[in-house]
Amino acid sequence: PTIFRQDYCPYPFKISHLNLIFDLDAAHTHVHSEMLLTRVNPGSDLLLHADGLSLLSIHLDGRELSAVTDYVLNDDGLRVLNPPESFTLSIVTQTQPDQNSTLMGLYASNGNLFTQCEAEGFRKITYFPDRPDVMTQYTVELRADAEQYSVLLSNGNLVDEGVLDDGRHYAKWIDPFKKPSYLFALVAGKLVCQEEKFILASGREVLLQVWVEDGNLDKTQHAMESLKNSIRWDEQRFGLELDLDRFMIVAVSDFNMGAMENKGLNIFNTKYVLANSRVATDIDYANIESVVGHEYFHNWTGNRVTCQDWFQLSLKEGLTVFRDQEFSADMIGTDSGRAVSRIGDVRTLRQVQFSEDAGPMAHPVRPDSYVEINNFYTVTIYEKGAEVVRMYQTLLGRDGFRKGMDLYFARHDGCAVTCDDFRAAMADANGRDLAQFERWYSQAGTPVVTVKSHYDTDLQQYTLTLRQSCAPTPGQTDKSPFHIPVTVGLLDSNGQEMPLYLVGESSAQASCVLELTDIEQSFVFDRIPALPTPSLLRNFSAPVVLEYAYSDTELAHLLAHDSDAFNRWEAGQRLATQRLMQLIKSVQAGEALSLDSLYLEAVGLVLNDENLDPAFRELVLTLPSEAMLAELSAEIDPHAIHVAREYMRQQISAHMHKDFYQVYQANQTMGVYSPDAISAGKRGLKNLALAYLVSNDADEQMISLALTQVHEAQNMTDRLAALAVLVRTGDECAIEPLNDFYQDFADDALVIDKWFSLQASSPKTDVELVRQLMRHPDFNLHNPNRARSLIFSFCHANPVQFHAKDGSGYAFWAEQVLALNAINPQVAARLVRVLDHWRKYQPALQARMQDALLTVANSVGLSKDVQELVVKMLK
Ligand code: ARG
Ligand code: ZN
Repeated sequence: PTIFRQDYCPYPFKISHLNLIFDLDAAHTHVHSEMLLTRVNPGSDLLLHADGLSLLSIHLDGRELSAVTDYVLNDDGLRVLNPPESFTLSIVTQTQPDQNSTLMGLYASNGNLFTQCEAEGFRKITYFPDRPDVMTQYTVELRADAEQYSVLLSNGNLVDEGVLDDGRHYAKWIDPFKKPSYLFALVAGKLVCQEEKFILASGREVLLQVWVEDGNLDKTQHAMESLKNSIRWDEQRFGLELDLDRFMIVAVSDFNMGAMENKGLNIFNTKYVLANSRVATDIDYANIESVVGHEYFHNWTGNRVTCQDWFQLSLKEGLTVFRDQEFSADMIGTDSGRAVSRIGDVRTLRQVQFSEDAGPMAHPVRPDSYVEINNFYTVTIYEKGAEVVRMYQTLLGRDGFRKGMDLYFARHDGCAVTCDDFRAAMADANGRDLAQFERWYSQAGTPVVTVKSHYDTDLQQYTLTLRQSCAPTPGQTDKSPFHIPVTVGLLDSNGQEMPLYLVGESSAQASCVLELTDIEQSFVFDRIPALPTPSLLRNFSAPVVLEYAYSDTELAHLLAHDSDAFNRWEAGQRLATQRLMQLIKSVQAGEALSLDSLYLEAVGLVLNDENLDPAFRELVLTLPSEAMLAELSAEIDPHAIHVAREYMRQQISAHMHKDFYQVYQANQTMGVYSPDAISAGKRGLKNLALAYLVSNDADEQMISLALTQVHEAQNMTDRLAALAVLVRTGDECAIEPLNDFYQDFADDALVIDKWFSLQASSPKTDVELVRQLMRHPDFNLHNPNRARSLIFSFCHANPVQFHAKDGSGYAFWAEQVLALNAINPQVAARLVRVLDHWRKYQPALQARMQDALLTVANSVGLSKDVQELVVKMLK
């Protein structure tokens, strides 16, 4: 059954209060619910959602209801027939947390109990209108064995706790804010916490806690720091204060996603909480900061103002990703640091979202229909959604954007609203017409902006002509023009910025935002004394593909001089991409491969420029990934892509061997480990140098350099980077370090994930080795992190082996999709998406992928999650 956005109807009842009592036990939990309902819209019956619940009893105003005359139970809910205008409904249900392998609703993990309710998990806990526009005030009493479940947490404030007559203990929580059911949470178990009192800008004191399993308290400091930084940042940048007296983060090792913003009780995948220098890499540290920020920022963008329905998901997710991106960038602080962080975000967008937009699952930022909402927690909703929010800021300026945010909260605090409401607040606060901007929400697909330039020597005028188009996507054949902000600058032959005088304007700017609203528009700049080099789409001002016929010398000029660091990097990527695409063709044609010196010299200058941030130099020297090259190919040949990219890496390595060695030595970090951006950047550049030094035909000396680093590393970043380099050689030199690594970290699940992932993603690891690793005693398909570390790393991050010509990778994929489908549909559905682009591959691979897809599609017992995807993919 497909759900349509147009079918939205307000819920006919208001629920003024919900009182929940949980008798918690891993085998059987009883949930007593009592709610006060009042009709607010005409209609007849009362509909409550349910998913896999056992109903033990139901009373209306104290009278037991009859299954014959008073209500109807079916698969997805309960219908109470002809209820009165105002009444109390009391329901008792039973669930079995330890039988729940979906990790939605109430479930057990390492003997503790947790909940995950977004999007539709609350209906697995009790009968309730499980939709985001039904908000109510929650009182929650948790009762459980005092020993096994010594800690009992829920949303809001702890108001009472004590011992029950039967010896169990209880805790009572009241959340002062009304909330939708998807923000409900409880945690029960043996946990310990790091806590701290913290003073808000207003002077109010709050209690911050990070809860983990015993033995992990040496890994909570960074999450705590990140939380405090997040609270400060939201106060300063948006004037938004924490509204509770207590804010809790809880880490759980079985979790479908990254984390969840439950009111006052954020629940996190351990991966995004636990860190110390021994077990976590710089990237882990950065991810923790950003996810802690993300969930915290949801308190305002998501919780105080929530979504009317799930079609509006990007209202909270796009906005909150934008906020966490800005937070991470501000935490680095420097301009070049901001650019580095922006480049990282854009890389994900292009590699993953552009390809989603070009495939069978393409959907608008605000979709029109879905079968399973969990399939719509996508890069389009999150990352493209964040780009859409960023464009408001580009169009309105930082101050204008802030005015829009202020108006949004003034109008909608405490409400469940839509993307249109957000856009209206931005428009009204700034006196702007943003009607056309709506198309960013309603139209799927990545627009292409083609730019042509013309220089008129006599008039000293430079004209940029911008033309936009957008390819059809499933269900949307004709696209109307988007409102696209294109930030541009012009460089003179010395690499200096030219002052920009748009015709008709008297003041000059260094950079200006051209607003493309028609299919084609020209913009004329006056007083241009000589032919400039255009720097287009600065800081990636819109989520589009920008085409311009740059010459190699122009790109080298931009790479050397552009004041916009994003476009400096972009110029380097364009140079590399052009060469890689040519190399791919040569590989396919069986021609000899070669790489010109222009590229090598241009990136060599960056590598050796010590005035540049190491992190930036690392990014410039990182070639577009195989996934990115696949995205750019008309017909994907994973083997040619791999060969071409490896060849280019070797050439770079061979030509700059000395430079890499020098960079390797110059960027050692000494002393106590710190995850700050400067130190992390140095390690990143150093380890990139190491990876180049140990390219395929590495000499013994370089191998021993890597071995030494493995042995002497003082932190996980350096140890893992060197180990990865060794594993990728496919040589025996990796065997002992891999075993040592396993022995050293055998009791640390997150590090063992890295151990699996490292092997699975090495181009030397074939499907047979992956099957062998699946038989390792530490492998467990039920744990999403572990499944991802092995299966997803192989299918996603090891294209050359996954796309083995005999189709063995695809057969493995189908097997694992079906195995996961029976355990955890959400995780299974994520794996399905690996084959999104099967129609873009070479015909021989395509045929084998189709076989695998059909194997899945023709199986019985498919979840809605998997079913929706395979149907769309085969259509
Ligand atoms: N709202 C969470 C976040 O982005 C994600 C929850 C997704 N859950 C799901 N079952 N799809 O922070
Ligand atoms: Zn989120």
